[in-house]
Amino acid sequence: MTSTSLPLTHPALLRTSNLIGQAWSAAHTGHRLDVTNPATNTVFACVPDSDARDASQATDAAAAAFPAWSRRTARDRAQIIKRWHALILEHQEDLARIISTEQGKPIKEARGEVLYGASYVEWFAEEATRISGEIVAESVPGRKMLVLKEPVGVVAAITPWNFPLAMIARKIAPALAAGCTVVAKPAEDTPLTALALVYLAQQAGLPAGVLNIVTASRAKTPAVVDAWLADSRVRKITFTGSTPVGKHLARESAGTLKKLSLELGGNAPFIVFDDADIDAAVDGLMASKFRNGGQTCVCPNRVYVQAGVHDYFVARLSQRVAALQVGPATEDASQIGPMINARAVEKIARHVADAVAKGAVVMTGGERVRLADGPHYYAPTVLTNATPQMALSCEETFGPVAAVFRFTDEAEVIRDANDTPFGLAAYFYSNDVRRIWRVAQALETGIVGVNEGAIASEAAPFGGVKESGYGREGSRHGLDDYMHTKYICQGLLG
Ligand code: SIN
Repeated sequence: MTSTSLPLTHPALLRTSNLIGQAWSAAHTGHRLDVTNPATNTVFACVPDSDARDASQATDAAAAAFPAWSRRTARDRAQIIKRWHALILEHQEDLARIISTEQGKPIKEARGEVLYGASYVEWFAEEATRISGEIVAESVPGRKMLVLKEPVGVVAAITPWNFPLAMIARKIAPALAAGCTVVAKPAEDTPLTALALVYLAQQAGLPAGVLNIVTASRAKTPAVVDAWLADSRVRKITFTGSTPVGKHLARESAGTLKKLSLELGGNAPFIVFDDADIDAAVDGLMASKFRNGGQTCVCPNRVYVQAGVHDYFVARLSQRVAALQVGPATEDASQIGPMINARAVEKIARHVADAVAKGAVVMTGGERVRLADGPHYYAPTVLTNATPQMALSCEETFGPVAAVFRFTDEAEVIRDANDTPFGLAAYFYSNDVRRIWRVAQALETGIVGVNEGAIASEAAPFGGVKESGYGREGSRHGLDDYMHTKYICQGLLG
């Protein structure tokens, strides 16, 4: 593979090796992992297929770098992170092109993802300088009682493919800001964005060993992750991905009692009450459901519409969805790109077929789209008559399918919305102030969008409850997740 297969203004951003310490290196085995363009299903790059030895070597580097990095002043760390932020913005177009090519995100959205990810980097550079402890009023004369915040140590960051830049940025930036050092493993489908991001951190002046990254295939990932799980020097694991993998990490990290942040699966309800502004609700659903082709943990999976506005809402929604442009991710006009791989398209097709067999009605879409450049496209779809018996009601479809359920009263819809083991995000539209507070409090999720479909922000705590995990990313809570609390009690002061 040469850089000409992915034309970039700054070809050095196309990294195809691990970064361990200060060396860009191949996997111990010499094995390589193919990176595929999901639109064309063709291989356009290769990266190391690492194993436990690479993972442990990365931990050696991170553990060696920790004492010096954690002792630097917060302002010093912040300055390097700010330079990293500036470099990310400077290379926005190249980074967006890498995201689009390896993940299939429409280029306009990919540019947005670069800014979104960069906003976390800037935020945590600023938060670094605000880390502070407490002096507690002493309960015994002659004592001083102090509370310090300290970095937890080496952090392992394991990230997903759907936001290949933003998800790793919002884990690495707070870790570095807190004074932790990092070993990272991006998803096998999208390693190049993460490698480019780490390269820019190196260019920003991050000392050797502070940030290390290894890439691995699905088959080798367990070896890499197991090496980190077993290593007592790794003090925290931060993971975004599926609930079964999150549970595995929770079980297996018990041996060394690591701190965990788990951002896991969702099954978000989106509720439209009769008293809502219906056009605003359609706008909100378009923004949240069809972002990244519906391949987003927080995107609505179940759309509940009250009987009085149901038909109008469905008509407006179907019109908007039918007008979405499906096309190659690198084209400016595309609004829905290819799905990540064949498995993803098969799951969407299976969910739609199951729903139709159980009585759902296809208002628009409902089929694969055959484009000249490849097989991984699915038409943006609206289904009505959805019921809890359908697979799409209890599993994340992770595709451009809006399944509409009709409901009659508030108590019924709250019960149905909460009838899931997941609890990441929920949305509802209403203009009744009393109902707004009642429903926002009744929904069992970590995030609630009220009359708003775009809820993510670097300034807000992102994370779930129930089997959607624990820990928060973004906001000051996102920094706390990388620190522990130390109490110092000094006596003999009387
Ligand atoms: C995710 O899909 O896990 C993250 C989406 C977001 O940050 O909005």
